[in-house]
Amino acid sequence: MIEVKNLTRNYGTTIAVNDVSFSVKKGEVLGFLGPNGAGKTTTMKVLTCFMPPTSGTATVDGFDILEDPLAVRERIGYLPESTPLYTDMMVEDYLSYIAEMRRIPQAQRASRIKRMIDVCSLRGVLKKDIGALSKGYKQRVGLAQAMIHDPAILILDEPTSGLDPNQIIEIRQLIKELGKEKTIILSTHILPEVSATCDRVMIINEGKLVASGTPDELQNEAAGDSVLYVAITAKQSDIESTFANINVIKASECISHSGGRYSYRLVIDKSQKDCGASVFQLAVERGWVLSEIRSEQLSLEDVFLKLTTGDN
Ligand SMILES: Nc1ncnc2c1ncn2[C@@H]1O[C@H](COP(=O)(O)OP(=O)(O)OP(=O)(O)O)[C@@H](O)[C@H]1O
Ligand SMILES: [Mg+2]
Repeated sequence: MIEVKNLTRNYGTTIAVNDVSFSVKKGEVLGFLGPNGAGKTTTMKVLTCFMPPTSGTATVDGFDILEDPLAVRERIGYLPESTPLYTDMMVEDYLSYIAEMRRIPQAQRASRIKRMIDVCSLRGVLKKDIGALSKGYKQRVGLAQAMIHDPAILILDEPTSGLDPNQIIEIRQLIKELGKEKTIILSTHILPEVSATCDRVMIINEGKLVASGTPDELQNEAAGDSVLYVAITAKQSDIESTFANINVIKASECISHSGGRYSYRLVIDKSQKDCGASVFQLAVERGWVLSEIRSEQLSLEDVFLKLTTGDN
């Protein structure tokens, strides 16, 4: 649905986006993650034909962003980072205006506007000037204008920024719901948001793509060896000789024991998938009583820090 090839965008001597390539499949929700100044907004501006790339290409639903910008724009709903709304327009007038601009057929306009009012909870502010709205409500109006023409693709630059916690949950649910039929790229700094809403994550740092995968994959990749805590009731010599004979257990350390129950910290080679299940199986075979098993996992936050701070 979206193909980006070797995209580069400079501002003077600043390379904001540096040779980035990726693709987004139809129906996929892609989370764009990166620290301030990483190049997220710039990439989105290029994809939405807001500004041209310095080099490289991108196509949206088969249309080239440079050759067919109108076709691209028709297919995209864009929520910019700082929503350029008409501040002296009333919310309901603005929505009517956008519906007209987006060439929604007259017969459908009222129902599309009503749908956006419901979805973005705007009923209480319809008669207010946009300039007089709070930040969160401006954001909701921005979301409404992005979705009003029911585009196949949504590009949302920090969609939940400025919203209160209730609204954040609602918007995340909405994005998940929309993601069933639409292709979505969203940027965020909020890591739980990525796990909550995205099928795939791309981490961008200093204009470069540094990682891509499902939230789970990224966690696993960056994790290296895994650590497993187990508590076993059995003869200690039996436990230790068994662990010593298993290749994927790189280290085992008894961290506590009481009344015949031994707690171990095991370092397990990263080649071993699902080591919890293997240890469980082992306990069954040896007739051990396994009373605790838990793995220590890197959070997405750890992965993000590892990949974007040069601390790797
Ligand atoms: N209009 C501009 N003129 C000059 N430099 C710019 C301009 N817009 C962005 N930049 C620079 O390009 C780089 C990428 O900025 P961009 O806004 O794309 O980052 P971002 O990932 O969206 O960051 P944030 O999380 O803060 O929104 C930064 O170094 C920024 O200073
Ligand atoms: Mg930005």
